[in-house]
Amino acid sequence: MKEEMIVTPWEVKGEIDYNKLIEEFGIKAIDEALLNRIKKHTKDLHYMLRRKIFFAHRDMNWILDEYEKGNKFFLYTGRGPSGKTHLGHLIPWLFTKWLQDKFGAKLYFQITDDEKFLFKEKLSLEDVKNYAYDNILDIIALGFDPKKTFIFSDTEYAKTLYKEAIRVAKHVTYSTTKAVFGFKNDSNIGQIFFTSMQAVPAFLESLKAGKNVPCLIPLAVDQDPHFRIARDVMPKLGYYKPAVIHSKFFPGLSTVQKMSSSQPFDTIFTTDTPDEIETKVMRAFTGQQATKELQKRLGGNPDICAICQYYYFLFEPDDKKVEEIFEKEKKGKILAGEHKKDLAERVVKFLEEHHKKREKARDMVEKFILRD
Ligand code: TYM
Repeated sequence: MKEEMIVTPWEVKGEIDYNKLIEEFGIKAIDEALLNRIKKHTKDLHYMLRRKIFFAHRDMNWILDEYEKGNKFFLYTGRGPSGKTHLGHLIPWLFTKWLQDKFGAKLYFQITDDEKFLFKEKLSLEDVKNYAYDNILDIIALGFDPKKTFIFSDTEYAKTLYKEAIRVAKHVTYSTTKAVFGFKNDSNIGQIFFTSMQAVPAFLESLKAGKNVPCLIPLAVDQDPHFRIARDVMPKLGYYKPAVIHSKFFPGLSTVQKMSSSQPFDTIFTTDTPDEIETKVMRAFTGQQATKELQKRLGGNPDICAICQYYYFLFEPDDKKVEEIFEKEKKGKILAGEHKKDLAERVVKFLEEHHKKREKARDMVEKFILRD
């Protein structure tokens, strides 16, 4: 029997049907007209847009209307520091960096250490603070502009955030959070309040500028429910509703499901060593036929092959080359061992570069941190 699809900020399960999610969440598919409109300003299109890895949105046309009137938007995204950064997290962050470069936008980057403390039974406040620092190195390593990027954690930037979060909280009932997030009677009360903390950065720039500034939030679609609530509340506080752009999930190594830290053998962390990467990639699921002969004769299915999907999502920005890789897989022209070895090399190279930038980031942290 097919596992039921569940997509919430804290749980993603089952085979994801993105068309169904568009309907259930009430978001809009990204169409060619929108892509052309974005392209007018960016000249080229990021591969994540061309491939519809970013597949849906809320109010992108409004953001562009405002931009065209000279009303620039700011960006807002975040990380819940529950562990090491993995490759999946890089999807929205790399795309955010591209948007920052193309639109010259400021970026607020929220680190929800409070959230992970409240939602992960086993994590202490010290644990999440350590992960926060570790994750911030990955974020800085991606090359965000230090003059335009403001990173803050909820517990440390609390003097500013808390005041605003209670303004949000006053407009959100228990029954709303229960309906949106599925809380139960034994959910701790910090969890029930938390969404109001994630709402605040969507109007932080407006607060600082003393006028309404449009906000665009890139994220993977699991985080959308928070902003359904934020979009209801913000006009009541006198702010614009934030626009949102949603990505699909980068898959784990052994299934086509979302890469997630709760499956460490299925997940490549940005701090993994070459040995760890190779071991993990060599165990990946390719869905190839049972024998070499059958594979050569019948070929495989790139849609369920983790190796093909890794090229598609992150490791091959050239569309033509991705097509070639998919063709080889379909026609049985590449066998699993070689396929995996090629990808492992690519991942090792990518992460070796990332490790260098990550080390340099240690001296840059203070340039990015926003304090009360
Ligand atoms: P977190 O730490 O779970 O994830 C950080 C960002 O990565 C996205 N993501 C993925 N994207 C693609 N493929 C995957 N396998 C994958 N796994 C995670 C998440 O959707 C998220 O965009 N509460 C948030 C932190 C946060 C935030 C925000 C996120 C605070 N404010 C505003 C987005 C926008 C969290 O725990 O994310």
